[in-house]
Amino acid sequence: MSVHKNIKKITTHVLHEMKLKKQKIAMLTAYDYSMARILDSAGVDVLLVGDSASNVMAGNESTLPITLDEMIYHARGVVRATSRALVVVDLPFGSYQGNSKEALATAIRIMKETGAHAIKLEGGSVVKESVERILSAGIPVMGHLGLTPQSIHKFGTYVVRAKEEEEARKLVEDSHLLEDIGCFAIVLEKIPAKLACEVSKGVQIPVIGIGAGPHVDGQVLVTHDMLGIIQDFSPRFLRRYHNLFAEITGAVQNYIIDVRSGDFPNEKEQY
Ligand code: KIV
Repeated sequence: MSVHKNIKKITTHVLHEMKLKKQKIAMLTAYDYSMARILDSAGVDVLLVGDSASNVMAGNESTLPITLDEMIYHARGVVRATSRALVVVDLPFGSYQGNSKEALATAIRIMKETGAHAIKLEGGSVVKESVERILSAGIPVMGHLGLTPQSIHKFGTYVVRAKEEEEARKLVEDSHLLEDIGCFAIVLEKIPAKLACEVSKGVQIPVIGIGAGPHVDGQVLVTHDMLGIIQDFSPRFLRRYHNLFAEITGAVQNYIIDVRSGDFPNEKEQY
């Protein structure tokens, strides 16, 4: 019997149960009300207000520039649109690293001002104190290991992480640490499938992959990539389910033709 089918509201407990019953979790990013309504009514389990909004919505080259106020703006619209999915909001770069009190203040602002259900932040042992402090306030935390885009200037490139033994070992250690201190789930980004499988088997909490192969408890993609709205980002792990760039272009070109020819508006489209 499927756990998620009859569930009216996805909670962190439901996600845990889904892992136990080996039912895969479907997660997608959302940054605004209209898209979140579609995704929620389609049955997506988790909506991530990702800091990828920095790239996707604002056109920045990295996730670093997005501010806490901007994340809150995006998250409010998503929460307003959502009745079933669990809404998770990324803590933006600079709002939690190195200062656990600031991390807690950031997480509290997000929860209070958006109505979201959980927060996500990047890193393992380096953010332990921040994660613990946020958890102590009763705020559910999702971890994020592997390729952590907020550290792009340290990595220097977006290539697959943890291919070497030492980094892989550290990642496994970090996954246990995040589970032990109380995170409810972990995102693994762009790491070898074998390693992701080991992590998923080694922890009790759900592990959601992006470019981490099939042997995890769920998958996440950036909605604008999987729908083909954004075309200039084509990593191997991305499956495109639509070519909305072409569809929208066609519709808009038809509109332009109709306006220019005087065909729009017609007699029925006026007062
Ligand atoms: O911001 C984001 O979209 C993310 C996903 C890639 C997991 O963190």
